[in-house]
Amino acid sequence: MHTVGFIGLGAMGAPMAENVNGAGYPLIVYNRTRSRTEPFAERGERVADSPCEVAQASDVVIVMVTDDEALEAVLEGEEGILAGLTDGTIVLQMSTVTPAGTEAAAEAVRDVGGRYVDAPVSGTVGPAEEGTLTVLAAGPDDLLGEVEGILAAIGEPIVDCGAVGDGARMKLFVNLLLGDMMGAFAEALAFGTAQGLDYEGMLTVVEAGAVDSPLFSIKGENIAADDFEPRFPVDLQFKDLRYAVEEANDEGVPLPQTAAARETFSAARGMGHGGEDMAAVVKFFEQVAGLSVGDSSES
Ligand SMILES: NC(=O)c1ccc[n+]([C@@H]2O[C@H](COP(=O)([O-])OP(=O)(O)OC[C@H]3O[C@@H](n4cnc5c(N)ncnc54)[C@H](OP(=O)(O)O)[C@@H]3O)[C@@H](O)[C@H]2O)c1
Repeated sequence: MHTVGFIGLGAMGAPMAENVNGAGYPLIVYNRTRSRTEPFAERGERVADSPCEVAQASDVVIVMVTDDEALEAVLEGEEGILAGLTDGTIVLQMSTVTPAGTEAAAEAVRDVGGRYVDAPVSGTVGPAEEGTLTVLAAGPDDLLGEVEGILAAIGEPIVDCGAVGDGARMKLFVNLLLGDMMGAFAEALAFGTAQGLDYEGMLTVVEAGAVDSPLFSIKGENIAADDFEPRFPVDLQFKDLRYAVEEANDEGVPLPQTAAARETFSAARGMGHGGEDMAAVVKFFEQVAGLSVGDSSES
């Protein structure tokens, strides 16, 4: 059984690591803020002092950190993964980063004799806990086969997206849609509220029609309950919209809806809601229009 190193025990990484461990893989974990490793230490898992130490002790190193900069930070330098990789070790990169970021990481890993799989995930904290994330796997077939058991502990389905870089592309594709939908939903709710419509009535009409989506049902209830505990925070959704627009600009593809959604999320961040759940984008509309979205006439 492969020993699995896990770097990045945040909202997503911690439950993913627990599921990998639950499937029988021995773990060695690292997190920049050490307190996040405590639950693992208490369960008897090995805690490393650096990404380098994780790489030295692992057959497969999973990385689940914030963005391109964080990926680079855990790879590079004396304490980084690259400094500790032994020949053939697999780096399984699962963070949401740019295609260029993951391709550069893959090249750096291969340069020191390692192997690389690009496998971001779709889904949020609940599916991460349940082991039901959608895995967007990309890399050579034999490597995907080798890490299949680990990926299966994290989620299902495992979608073969193609070559390294295509996992990141698929992730930006789906999160572009997610951010556009959340921005449009918040805007529509603000419109309806300003028109004096009943909140529960609006949700019922959405759920009964062709625009029905689990996203609208879940976030609609969260907004009504004033529950903005971060599952997928505004900051991370903003990052993904930014990455998608930058990628599209490079390809000469206009993304007018996504650019607008990115700016809506940017405004919500500017108002201090970056750490709250993505549903808090509705607060941008509330604040600029002096509305309170989510109150039902029955309540
Ligand atoms: N939340 C979701 O619903 C969701 C769903 C799918 C994909 N994702 C993606 O998955 C990734 C992780 O998301 P998350 O929700 O788990 O985020 P999170 O809770 O904010 O955790 C981020 C992790 O990255 C680490 N990190 C950040 N900058 C670092 C640096 N410079 N050096 C070393 N470590 C660094 C953090 O360490 P510290 O503890 O020290 O800050 C933490 O372990 C992101 O790319 C996100 O876009 C998130």
